[in-house]
Amino acid sequence: MSDIFFEIHNDNPREGPGNFESTKRAFQAMKNLPGKPSILDIGCGPGKQTLDLAQLTKGSITAVDNHEPFLAQLDKLVISQGLQKRVRTMKADMFSLNFPPRSFDVIWSEGAIYFIGFEAGLRSWKRFLKPKGYIAVSELTRLKTNPPQEAKDFWEGAYPAMRDVTGNLAIIDSAGYSLIENFTLPESAWLEEYYGPLQKRVEKLKVKYQNNPEALKVLAAEDSERESYRKYAAYYGYVFYIIKQS
Ligand SMILES: C[S@@+](CC[C@H](N)C(=O)[O-])C[C@H]1O[C@@H](n2cnc3c(N)ncnc32)[C@H](O)[C@@H]1O
Repeated sequence: MSDIFFEIHNDNPREGPGNFESTKRAFQAMKNLPGKPSILDIGCGPGKQTLDLAQLTKGSITAVDNHEPFLAQLDKLVISQGLQKRVRTMKADMFSLNFPPRSFDVIWSEGAIYFIGFEAGLRSWKRFLKPKGYIAVSELTRLKTNPPQEAKDFWEGAYPAMRDVTGNLAIIDSAGYSLIENFTLPESAWLEEYYGPLQKRVEKLKVKYQNNPEALKVLAAEDSERESYRKYAAYYGYVFYIIKQS
């Protein structure tokens, strides 16, 4: 990825849509967890949801990502919040995680499973789950049929594997899980929590790179992604799926 990409994305509170209320709702859907559950947060990014989870539970969290600057950002917050005993970060590739089988009560992944693929992630991460464990993942999902052509073109370019809820529920079932709950993230989780800070960063960088057409192109792509969401939020969104082994 280019330097400008990281200049846009480093030091933001979130690297994907999400909010505390949604993390809380997903976590609270998991019934009968042990008092101090062990949680694996995959693709944790700068770790906003990791810290929210630390607030929602007395359990321990292993937060993994393959991008070190995000882990360093999270480490600073872990230290400043005195969470070192319960939250540890680890550089790891979600394609080749190396934990003992049945290590975790909960596997969490907000806005990141698409890197490995919804089905591949659910299948390959299952071995790390304790028998009564849960998985909570948010995944970009088609919310309505017949999107306007412009929206279709944009998202078919950005994420051609995107399915509707029914398609994802079929994958959940065939991968040996049952659904506990699913819900769509509110628009504020995108526009305020994710795109808000990102837009401020993009505006600053447009000034810095005013004479650099390549950088301006990357910045314009960020604008067009945000505008596409604003226009077509009814058609696509992040859906949280909370599931357990069946
Ligand atoms: C869209 S961001 C979401 C981050 C965070 N969960 C959030 O919601 O703010 C996806 C994250 O997945 C991480 N990632 C991408 N490929 C990965 C891989 N192969 N292994 C581990 N993490 C990966 C990225 O570095 C990034 O932090």
